[in-house]
Amino acid sequence: MKETVFGAVRISEHVWWVGAADWNVRNFHGYLTDRGSSYNAFLIVDEKVTLIDAVKAPFTKEMLDRVASVIDPEKIDYIVSNHSEPDHSGGLPEVIAAVKPEKVFASVIGAKTLAAYYGELNVTPVKTGDTISIGSGNLAFVDTKMLHWPDSMVTYYDADKLLFSQDAFGMHLAGSMMWADEYDKSLLEYEARKYFANIINLQAPKVLALLDSLPGLGLDIQMVLPDHGPMWRTQEDIAWILSLYRDFAEQKPRPRALVAYATMWHSTGILATAFAEGVRSAGVEVHLADLAENDRSSIMTHVAYSGLIAFGAPTMNNQMFPAMADTLCYVKGLKPQNKLGFAFGSCGWSGEGAKQISAELEAMGVEQPEKFIQVKYMPTADELTAIRDCGKRLAEQLLEKCK
Ligand code: FEO
Repeated sequence: MKETVFGAVRISEHVWWVGAADWNVRNFHGYLTDRGSSYNAFLIVDEKVTLIDAVKAPFTKEMLDRVASVIDPEKIDYIVSNHSEPDHSGGLPEVIAAVKPEKVFASVIGAKTLAAYYGELNVTPVKTGDTISIGSGNLAFVDTKMLHWPDSMVTYYDADKLLFSQDAFGMHLAGSMMWADEYDKSLLEYEARKYFANIINLQAPKVLALLDSLPGLGLDIQMVLPDHGPMWRTQEDIAWILSLYRDFAEQKPRPRALVAYATMWHSTGILATAFAEGVRSAGVEVHLADLAENDRSSIMTHVAYSGLIAFGAPTMNNQMFPAMADTLCYVKGLKPQNKLGFAFGSCGWSGEGAKQISAELEAMGVEQPEKFIQVKYMPTADELTAIRDCGKRLAEQLLEKCK
């Protein structure tokens, strides 16, 4: 062991954490990471010294310093890239140049993706069923294609019974504590839910298939080590995050509503508040969010958690207000399922906004039992009563659907 500025954290007999916390990142390709993030990388010191994943490029020297606290980085024999998105591969070219490993492994698509990003890195492709011996233990690879990129795979190390799960079971959360059992569960649940909603929701059916196939793989998993956020080291916590993932992926309707809106002169804002009042009066929890103050990833988190989603916007230049178009484009891409929906808005003259929102909800497969409501300029008392009653009716239908 060598004295370095950045130290490695031992997590099992052969394995050290050598990643980095990114405390101040707040915009992760459009995802509001208001608690920062981390890029977990792992060093296995077996007969073949192996690095599992790397870090975002600016953190490469920090990672190599952590490696150096355990072993001379030039002693790294193998590198495994479970996922080629640049938050885990950005540091790879520099690491490969510095340590000159004997081999770099990635999935078949991962090898192509790394070459496309960084040029030829002489990556050896591996697939489900392939194993390599690294001394006292073996590394076994399992393709997890489209979870969440085509290249994605996970790696199991049987000597210490560890699953290196790349993005899966991770969350954007920077912290000085390494383990899930050191954090408050409600914080973990919120961040895991947000991560799933914004990164994985599109592939929810594949998550269910993977969860169903896990027992058949016959892996004795003592720790799950994702590439972001705290790691899972107790059987209780591993069971907890697996069951949360099943819950997220099933997308069963929940007795909860989101009312997201954009507003120019507060007409749509008043409509949103009246609709939310109707929902609340039926005994359904409701969350109101002005798009001027709430980013799209926060909205998507609420979409995933709500059985009723209502969107409202004014008309501007014969279009729905642009912030709403941005949000709906994002939400549509993540394919939320089993939602009741509602569209509303205000306008001055042409009035396309609410109709366009309704069309977007229809394109998403969201059930809309009530026709959209559009008002001119400022809603009248009767119009506010009508939209409040609409909120109440939809909330009552949601409660029925949740039974
Ligand atoms: Fe954390 Fe898909 O990269």
